[in-house]
Amino acid sequence: MNNSERILVIDDELAPRESIRMVLKDKYAVSTASGALEGLSMMSENSVDLVVMDIKMPKMDGITALQEIKKKHPDTEVILLTAYASLETARDAIRFGAFDYLLKPFDKDDILMVVEKGLTKRRSSTGLKMERDILLDRASYLEKQISEARTNIMMCYEGTVNALILTIDAKDHYTYNHSNRVAKLSSAMAEVLGSPEKTIKEIEHAACIHDIGKIGIDENILKKNGRLTSDEYMEMKKHPAIGVRIVQSVPFLEDAIPVIQYHHERYDGKGYPEGIKGDKIPLAARIVNVADAIDAMMCARPYRAALTVDNVMSELTNNAGTQFDPAIVEIILNGRVTLF
Ligand SMILES: [Fe+2]
Ligand SMILES: [Fe+2]
Repeated sequence: MNNSERILVIDDELAPRESIRMVLKDKYAVSTASGALEGLSMMSENSVDLVVMDIKMPKMDGITALQEIKKKHPDTEVILLTAYASLETARDAIRFGAFDYLLKPFDKDDILMVVEKGLTKRRSSTGLKMERDILLDRASYLEKQISEARTNIMMCYEGTVNALILTIDAKDHYTYNHSNRVAKLSSAMAEVLGSPEKTIKEIEHAACIHDIGKIGIDENILKKNGRLTSDEYMEMKKHPAIGVRIVQSVPFLEDAIPVIQYHHERYDGKGYPEGIKGDKIPLAARIVNVADAIDAMMCARPYRAALTVDNVMSELTNNAGTQFDPAIVEIILNGRVTLF
């Protein structure tokens, strides 16, 4: 006995309507309506699990009502009642979503059997729907958690990058400003090269800290008002390796390592620290290498004046393919990224 399941019997004739109600009333919560419009209005007030409905009714026939019910209450099962004359219509009604039909005059056991089958289908679809809803809820909860975790990681990442940038600033203000300009120029070049948004951001962050290793270089060398001696230059050349050691301890900064390690490699293999050449140098490092050189040339140093944009363009042209990746230099030469 399951009196919580609701059945609505719709028939304009009192006798079949009542006889079906009598058959079902001990097992289910049964209500009745004398026409389709009345039935639909009752359904809009209280949902039902299953409708038993005559096909031939005045005002609105059972087939039209079936389509209305399926539109508004797709999970409600509908069993049609039909006289032999309307048997074909009843068969056709299956394609409009009717669960089954009962041929008049009907037998009590047939009614109980078909109704119970209809309710079994309704129960399983309700169960599946509930399971699907639970899974969808769970998926959206997990998506929210992932997005929050991603935001937190990004905040940690940017916080750490900022802390490192401020550490460079405290030691050497020139390097701080230089790093910011190199970051802007590098990300603009990466964008022109068609890099994905995520890669552009990674290159920008990496460029911000490409000289982080200078924290470990003697201040007298770093801020020297003149050209470096060869020993001092040897010392200065350690900054990529020092930078890698600093950043290696922060797992989510590992994407910046290739830039920190290789931004002084030359396209012809005559750079440092490893002397790797061409495409062996990671693309991000080749981009930062060009941006780094441009910024150094455009800045006045204690021992030389800043180069003009024309002079920088000539230097880039003359050193494309030797010092610089020619494809990256081309972005500047053809004006797709303009200099500051
Ligand atoms: Fe550097
Ligand atoms: Fe630099």
